[in-house]
Amino acid sequence: MSKPAKRVAVTGAAGQIGYSLLFRIANGDMLGKDQPVILQLLDITPALPAVRGVVMELEDCAFPLLAGVVVTDDPKVAFKDADYALLVGARPRSKGMERKDLLEANGAIFTVQGRALDEAASRDVRVLVVGNPANTNAYIAMKSAPSLPKKNFTAMLRLDHNRALSQLAARTGKPVGQIEKLAVWGNHSPTMYPDYRFATIGGQSVKAMINDDAWNRDAFIPTVGKRGAAIIEARGLSSAASAANAAIDHMRDWTLGTNGRWVTMGIPSDGSYGIPEDIMYGFPVTCAGGEYTMIKGLEIDEFSRSKMDATLKELFEERDGVAHLLG
Ligand code: NAD
Ligand code: LMR
Repeated sequence: MSKPAKRVAVTGAAGQIGYSLLFRIANGDMLGKDQPVILQLLDITPALPAVRGVVMELEDCAFPLLAGVVVTDDPKVAFKDADYALLVGARPRSKGMERKDLLEANGAIFTVQGRALDEAASRDVRVLVVGNPANTNAYIAMKSAPSLPKKNFTAMLRLDHNRALSQLAARTGKPVGQIEKLAVWGNHSPTMYPDYRFATIGGQSVKAMINDDAWNRDAFIPTVGKRGAAIIEARGLSSAASAANAAIDHMRDWTLGTNGRWVTMGIPSDGSYGIPEDIMYGFPVTCAGGEYTMIKGLEIDEFSRSKMDATLKELFEERDGVAHLLG
């Protein structure tokens, strides 16, 4: 007998990321090949005809796991009994814009959606915020949903994690799948700190293998941090397929576990590593049994401390910039 269907809400369903994401969720890539799903799709009213077009395509795929689709412009309908919520819908930045320019435009969306989750979603709903500025939007949604567990609100740093893995694989000439224990600290923005000090390949230290601090400082960290902008420059549009892929990775690992592998998730801090409680910050975690656990006790050297503080400072500024939205 098949499992009961899980309700998966996706916002911004008519957008670029939605177009890559929905088909993979319906194909079982996120929750498993034995898990039926009901998609609950939210977009703004003028975008609903486009969402209906995407639904026609979903129907035309005849996905065996797709047990139903809801299309709506009402967040409370989209989040009704949702087990998972992927908050993608927001304005992407265009050439020359920084993420904090999006704060005002997008922050308001996440107070409304946080309240709607609070009212309508499953008490166990797992929330991933993709829409930028992702960390601060996740913080807003969490603060707007006081009856839901804070730990169930997360922000997407998995794209940064995957970008960093790929750069390290290229530099070391080793397969990407063999790299363990990578961390990306902080904000999903150019201030993030991708950190391979603890990373290993086949048990050997990646730092020792590369042995080039200048490459770390002048090539690796800026390349990963500015990758989003480089894609916007090249494509004229922000990353979409890789972002959808990272969202699938994030939710799949959270739900099905990582078998001890480290991944990066933006999670509300518990005060570890000098990051104040509730700040939505990228940390290395492992996942098992549907829960994530932060990797604690890692040594933070002077260079790392300065990087972690710089990205924290930006998150403080973003938090202060949205304080008025949270009353
Ligand atoms: P897009 O413009 O193609 O699509 C956005 C969709 O959201 C549109 O269909 C729009 O109508 C919808 N939308 C706008 N306001 C909404 C609201 N209040 N409720 C529901 N839907 C709403 O953008 P995209 O390329 O799909 O990107 C979406 C977001 O994801 C952007 O903010 C982008 O910057 C962000 N992003 C984040 C990451 C990450 O790693 N965290 C990576 C890539 C993109
Ligand atoms: C990305 O990292 O590709 C996205 O967050 C888009 C952006 O604005 O950089």
